[in-house]
Amino acid sequence: MWAIAREAGALLMHHFHHRLKIEYKGEADLVTAADRASEKLIRERIRENWPEHDVLGEEQGLSDRGSEYRWYVDPLDGTTNFAHGFPVFCVSMAVERRVPAPAQRIAGVVYDPTRDELFSAELGKGAHLNGEKIHVSKTETLKESLLGTGFPSHKRHKNPNIYFYYQLTLHSHGVRRAGSAALDLCSVAGGRFDGFWEFNLNPWDTAAGALIVEEAGGKVTRFDGSPFELNSKETLASNGLIHAELVREFADIFAGRGLEELPDPSQYER
Ligand code: IPD
Ligand code: CA
Ligand code: CA
Repeated sequence: MWAIAREAGALLMHHFHHRLKIEYKGEADLVTAADRASEKLIRERIRENWPEHDVLGEEQGLSDRGSEYRWYVDPLDGTTNFAHGFPVFCVSMAVERRVPAPAQRIAGVVYDPTRDELFSAELGKGAHLNGEKIHVSKTETLKESLLGTGFPSHKRHKNPNIYFYYQLTLHSHGVRRAGSAALDLCSVAGGRFDGFWEFNLNPWDTAAGALIVEEAGGKVTRFDGSPFELNSKETLASNGLIHAELVREFADIFAGRGLEELPDPSQYER
């Protein structure tokens, strides 16, 4: 699995250093030749090694052979960054065992080819960065935390995240928005971020990263603290220590309690 992620990452870097052909998927989603080539390569390697396994990939959808194992593949997470030459993107893959129910993700890998960083986890065996064990941060309060979030490309998934961004920026050391959800989750796992949230992520964005956070000793839930599932559409990850505080913040913001007023730009001008 690690070898496949590294091979796909090398392919992405090759495309990154050459001219890119940008296409559009739907009205606003960028997709590059690299997304397609990376998924094709990953599917070929999975088929060679585990011919009976099912694969759900962002670009080609689900190939369902009725297997008890399913792979979740994001062949390029951070496509907008990639297409603009901003070097924050990765390959993300996870394997889930679906029988016996409930389904459980048993392994995940996120490879950042720009830094040669490979984050990995196996269920019950901890999380690693390039083979070294990693652990979430020890930050105990939100006000001392560095957080991450993401916004989808325009037109897709409209959501109220700008309000959450504003409130949490005021209540923490800051909120970063780097453009790759899988890497954001790995930043929580490795203690670079203390927390991360995003609306409307897809299973291929979170399958590996959420397992890596949990195996690094962190916590992943929905915004109200209830159990996270791959199709939850709400992802709240943290080091565990600030989780209750984050859940309270979310409840307050959803209820409109204690909201700091966004300054009116026209007032600011005057
Ligand atoms: C996107 C990235 C981004 C997140 C978007 C995702 P893609 O994935 O993870 O950080 O904000 O919601 O769709 O399209 O680059 O694979
Ligand atoms: Ca993605
Ligand atoms: Ca993608």
